[in-house]
Amino acid sequence: MNPLAAVSDIDDSDTSIFARKESNVQTYARSFPVVFGKAQGAHLYDVDGKKYIDFLAGAGTLNYGHNNPELKKKLLEYIEADGIAHGLDMHTDAKEQFLEALDELILKPRKLDYMVQFTGPTGANAVEAAMKLARKVTGRHNIISFTNGFHGVTMGALSATGNGHHRGGAGLPLSGVTRMPFANYLGEDVDTIDVLEKMVTDPSSGVDMPAAVIFEAVQGEGGLNAASMDWIKKLAAFCKRHDILLISDDIQAGCGRTGTFFSWEPAGITPDIVTLSKSLSGYGLPFAIVLISSELDIWKPGEHNGTFRGNNHAFVTATAALKTYWKDDTFAKSVREKGEYITKRLEAIIAKAGAIELKLKGRGMMQGIECPTGEFASEVTSRCFKENLIIETAGPNDEVVKCLIPLIIDQETLEEGLDILERAFAEVVQIAGRKKHLVSVA
Ligand SMILES: Cc1ncc(COP(=O)(O)O)c(C=O)c1O
Repeated sequence: MNPLAAVSDIDDSDTSIFARKESNVQTYARSFPVVFGKAQGAHLYDVDGKKYIDFLAGAGTLNYGHNNPELKKKLLEYIEADGIAHGLDMHTDAKEQFLEALDELILKPRKLDYMVQFTGPTGANAVEAAMKLARKVTGRHNIISFTNGFHGVTMGALSATGNGHHRGGAGLPLSGVTRMPFANYLGEDVDTIDVLEKMVTDPSSGVDMPAAVIFEAVQGEGGLNAASMDWIKKLAAFCKRHDILLISDDIQAGCGRTGTFFSWEPAGITPDIVTLSKSLSGYGLPFAIVLISSELDIWKPGEHNGTFRGNNHAFVTATAALKTYWKDDTFAKSVREKGEYITKRLEAIIAKAGAIELKLKGRGMMQGIECPTGEFASEVTSRCFKENLIIETAGPNDEVVKCLIPLIIDQETLEEGLDILERAFAEVVQIAGRKKHLVSVA
């Protein structure tokens, strides 16, 4: 991409502090150029009080909605009582309660024997730690990641990320990772695990025996590419067979987004290492962990460290989220039901598009529609924004309109948002006949 293109789309007449002082690196603010002041549940409000339905949910960070009342109550009580806010990685009662809740409500019921590493609070930092640990445990340097995978933009994580725009920002060669085709990347008739097996086991393929394979069960930023459970099972069996560690990056697809706490649960696998962040705090507070099979926890003290490994406010809200939503299957079941409803609505949009080829993508409450071009998708999302629906795109050419709806959304708001999306698609389908660039790349 032309590096100056982004500079030129800044509105010259905009004299706001954001235009004058905030770096050109900003992204979401370009799609939604208003100043937000308030949020509750599945709604955002700008400073003029205009109400928006939020189908972006902090890019998957607000699964339990904005300012969730249960979580807010616990956080306010904790702050009011002068609970520890920052504690490096020292033991605190807030951390103790989080670990207890994670163990009792998530790990034990799933028979998962993981140690918990608190990393710096971003997803990328958890990915960095996971990759480092896999290399340390196996003594091998190579890591396999998949086409269209997105794992963050710090150097190690970026080397595993496929997106050329982000990779271009590195300024250094990105090394130590071999890319393999994700599920269905080479069409439905090619089993990409067979390709992986062939490449890894052929001593002359040029692929060094990997320490680990890192994968997303549903690729979020890569365009809602959902691997089948068979593919995931086959991947796990391949890793076991060759003594390669399996890292699940569940930063976006985890915490209930696909209808189970972990996105890979229906496949019945147990990854060696799992990264979680985004919706883990439940409140939009920065928080990330790495779950490590206990026999792999060979870190030396402080070997991967960071000042913000103890975001105690996040521990408090994460504990409240686990206790509120994961004490039984009720919440997960509601996510699955809403997921089915979303599928039906998106299928109806696709059916109405006639000759224009649209495709359903994703799984659970991580679904969307692949459009013929990025321009088409962008036309849809900007029309949605005019009708006060906040929704973004994903995929290699930003061609997938992506619904990342707060999981707690009520049926009425869900329908209202999907109605707006349906109208926007109908309008763009109509004009696509006249504006050829919407349906085919020049
Ligand atoms: C699957 C996945 N991994 C890692 C990351 C990086 O997380 P962060 O942006 O918090 O560094 C993301 C962010 O979108 C993600 O979707």
